[in-house]
This record gives sequence, structure tokens and C-alpha cells, in this order.
Amino acid sequence: MPEVHKHTHPNLFWLKTKDGSTRLATINAEPGKKVYTERLVSKDGIEYRTFDPHKSKLGSAIMKELQNFPFIEGSKILYLGAASGTTVSHISDMIGADGSIFAVEFSARSLRDLVVVAERRQNIIPILADARFPEEYSFTVPLVDVVYEDVAQPRQAEILKDNVQTYLKKDGYFFFAVKARSIDVTKDPKVIYDEVIKDLESAGLTILEKIDIEPYEKDHIVIVGQKKV
Ligand SMILES: C[S@@+](CC[C@H](N)C(=O)[O-])C[C@H]1O[C@@H](n2cnc3c(N)ncnc32)[C@H](O)[C@@H]1O
Repeated sequence: MPEVHKHTHPNLFWLKTKDGSTRLATINAEPGKKVYTERLVSKDGIEYRTFDPHKSKLGSAIMKELQNFPFIEGSKILYLGAASGTTVSHISDMIGADGSIFAVEFSARSLRDLVVVAERRQNIIPILADARFPEEYSFTVPLVDVVYEDVAQPRQAEILKDNVQTYLKKDGYFFFAVKARSIDVTKDPKVIYDEVIKDLESAGLTILEKIDIEPYEKDHIVIVGQKKV
């Protein structure tokens, strides 16, 4: 039988499995069903899904001791760069039936897989759109508690600022996965991170923490911040 321990963040767990390894997990909102290559583990009538930090920047940031955690019951999240729903599905587990994830993805191929996941999980709203043009989804996205961005695009910071400006509530949080190599392959990633942080601060955003997510991803950081004004 696995051991299950609560993580300090809500609706997150540590599973100690038979092989002695400890893995991050969420409670599966659709028991019996997987979304990617995660493992399903049951204990005391509850099914958990392991949360692979190598496949999710949120998972990597949690493993690297992410402090601010706005993915709570009932949260409304705008997620940019949803792909086929790996991280989206874990957020879906954590925010519960009263939360919603507006999951924007511009690849029709990835969105097809995401739609299959969303048909089974009512709190995911898949949106085929380009995050560079936030007005494209204003017909369906309300003001949200969290903007999550993981798009690996040269204009990552502009995309974040525009979406935060349009959709994030005052005092809401943003979670921004910065991929240095998508911005400029020739520059030292640390210089890029400093420039991105300055850029966000000069747009009036407050930076709460910055996490280097090595060894899970090279040349990536996660920036978590707040829109205080
Ligand atoms: C690194 S993957 C995201 C992985 C995903 N966040 C996860 O953890 O499961 C980046 C995704 O962003 C999408 N993307 C890139 N630019 C985009 C844009 N401008 N608008 C919407 N999606 C975009 C890509 O098609 C790709 O699926």
C-alpha cells in the first residue's frame, strides 16, 4: 500500500510508492482515466494521479519549492499554451468543480487532444486561439484569479502583459514560465531573466518569486507575481 501525505499546498499530495520513491500527486477528478503517462495509485478509496515534474513547469516549480500557490478550490484560471492538457489536467484536479480553466492553445492538433480531456472534465474550457491577440477570446473569458503562461514564444513577456492587463483581477496572480532560448538563443539566460523582470515591473506588476526549474528544464525560470494596481 502506498503512503499518502498532504503537501503544504492545498489539494496536493506526496505518494510514497512500493519502490520507495516519493512522487507528487493530485486526486484524480475522473477515476480510472489518465491524461498522459502519469501513474494512477489508489489508497482508501481515493485515486491519485502522479504529477510528473519533467512534463510540467508547474510540477517542476512545486518540486523547487514554489511558495505562492493560487491554484485553489474555485479558482478561475486563464491558461495560455495549454497543449494537450498535461498541466491543465492537474490544475483541473486541484480547483474542483467550482473552478474553471480557460485553456488557450493555437495548435489545432494539440487542441483536439485537449477537447477529449475537456469532454470528461467540466471545469476545462478549451479555446482555439492565439494568445498574442487576447481580444480573440473576450467572448468567453471573464476576469480571472490567475493567468498562467507557458508558450515558448519570442514575445512571451508582451503576451503575458497584454493578457494580465485584459483578464487578471486586481490582486490576482500570474505564473509565467520563461524560456530564455525562445527569446534570444545568443544571450546569457540570466541577462534575459533580468530584462524580463524589469519589463514586468515597469508595467506595474509585482514580482513575488523567481524559480530556476533546473534540473527539470534547462534555461527556464518560473516567475510568479501579482497585479496589485
Ligand atoms: C511548452 S508547450 C506547453 C505545455 C503545457 N503548458 C503543459 O505544461 O502541459 C507550449 C504550447 O504553447 C502553444 N503556443 C505557443 N504560442 C502560442 C500562442 N501564441 N497562442 C496559443 N498557444 C501558443 C504551443 O502550441 C504549445 O502547445
